[in-house]
Amino acid sequence: MEAAGAAGGDADGDGAAALGQRLAAAGQGHVLRFWPELGGAARRALAAELRDMDVAEINRFFRRARGDGGGGGGGTTAGLDARMEPVPRDVLGSASRDRELLPRWESRGLAEIARSRVAVLLLAGGQGTRLGVPYPKGMYDVGLPSRKTLFHLQAQRLQRLQQLAEEQHGTSCHIPWYIMTSGRTMESTKEFFLKHRYFGLKKENVIFFQQGMLPALGFDGKILLEEKGKIAMAPDGNGGLYRALGAHGIVDDMERRGVQSVHVYCVDNILVKVADPRFIGFCLEKGADCGAKVVEKTNPTEPVGVVCRVDGVYQVVEYSEISLATAQKRGPDGRLLFNAGNIANHFFTTAFLKDVVNTYEPQLQHHVAEKKIPHVDITTGQLIQPEKPNGIKMEKFVFDIFQFSKKFVVYEVLREDEFSPLKNADSQNGKDNPTTARHALMSLHHCWVLNAGGHFVDENGTRVPAIPRLKDANDLPIQCEISPLISYGGEGLEKYVKDREFRAPLIIDEDGIHELVKNGM
Ligand code: UTP
Repeated sequence: MEAAGAAGGDADGDGAAALGQRLAAAGQGHVLRFWPELGGAARRALAAELRDMDVAEINRFFRRARGDGGGGGGGTTAGLDARMEPVPRDVLGSASRDRELLPRWESRGLAEIARSRVAVLLLAGGQGTRLGVPYPKGMYDVGLPSRKTLFHLQAQRLQRLQQLAEEQHGTSCHIPWYIMTSGRTMESTKEFFLKHRYFGLKKENVIFFQQGMLPALGFDGKILLEEKGKIAMAPDGNGGLYRALGAHGIVDDMERRGVQSVHVYCVDNILVKVADPRFIGFCLEKGADCGAKVVEKTNPTEPVGVVCRVDGVYQVVEYSEISLATAQKRGPDGRLLFNAGNIANHFFTTAFLKDVVNTYEPQLQHHVAEKKIPHVDITTGQLIQPEKPNGIKMEKFVFDIFQFSKKFVVYEVLREDEFSPLKNADSQNGKDNPTTARHALMSLHHCWVLNAGGHFVDENGTRVPAIPRLKDANDLPIQCEISPLISYGGEGLEKYVKDREFRAPLIIDEDGIHELVKNGM
């Protein structure tokens, strides 16, 4: 084949020739089509990229993901509606309906944290294409009064939690923070942490590792080129976690450190309760190896996946996979029958992760996402910016391993307390953007102040009605921000706010209260 010959005939020698033959044999020889036009450095970079790539495996992934060649395209959806069952009550815990059990779960979780048996694992390998910034999402500043980034908030929550566990148990402890990045986010993430001195955490307890990447493919399975000498690569989905855990010896590291429970979460949820002791305590009390934190889905057409059982096996079913009639079904309590909205916030035991890495990971199949993928036209050499989907990205999902759990549990929390994802730019979409994330955090902190006995007054000194939850995106929240170093989940605020009146903005941080205090009452 011409392209393979071009590479083979080049001064770069036998290595390039062998590469050309290997690609041609796999039907992917076209990626060297522009080889003759490339300079030395570009050739070396492309050859290096291709040498690390198992093209035969990529072809196999494509065939499986497409549903031929053994496996069924990430799971058949045929008749899904009829095979689905909601989460049974006996595996369900609820932060709002099981209030009396919360102290027990919390104290169990804190005890584990105090023994340094809990780690958190952050999924931060995504490209954040919808948000559209050229740096990792965790570095994003949504415009809080403190200007803290998502990474900064998470780091401080971990610090506070360690402190709470230490205070309760009189031991010194740490929560290792595993951060999964990708080829797109690794360097800048590490630099950012270094620049900010790990936000006060110990460097040895922040462990970075990198997930894999896969080439984007045309609908015909042909690898797409981003530039003439560059493959269009994308991270292999947040379920790339499991392969990466094995490749980088992360489970071994967890075992060495004595970690037994792992909280896995996404970078973009500004309200995330990292290593949530209640969630961890609940999962441990239930003897679970795998747990999902969910929020109630209340609108049948909300495009969120739901945790449920299919043929008796737990999985997440996407909104697009079921009929509207199924999505609209209601239970005897009037709530949606399939209401366990997945927020990619999971509990795993280390033992379960070890089984996944050693035994189950190869059974996971890629899901296919049809995307608009900018690419170089292989015949004309022109860069095409497609207006409709022209190819696929293959991704695994973090929840794909629920099916292997022997004891699976679900923990429901209130959305306004724990979930506000940053997905879109402010300019694009009124939902899940920097403004909604900022408002969600300030609105929650306003609630915390009210719950701790504080009040807000307006410019005339009149008390602001205590209805802090925002009804729509146009409502402006009271400007109120509490440093995670002061409070992890609303605790410990009485000494700052009880029976006091404040004018917004109110900021409480390590240096004290910054506000317009009307008077102490
Ligand atoms: P999303 O699927 O929302 O993707 O990721 P994204 O990269 O943040 O944004 P878009 O879709 O490109 O706009 C959910 C979580 O999974 C992580 C993300 O970093 C985020 O925490 N993720 C996603 C990975 O770690 N790796 C991936 O390959 C994809």
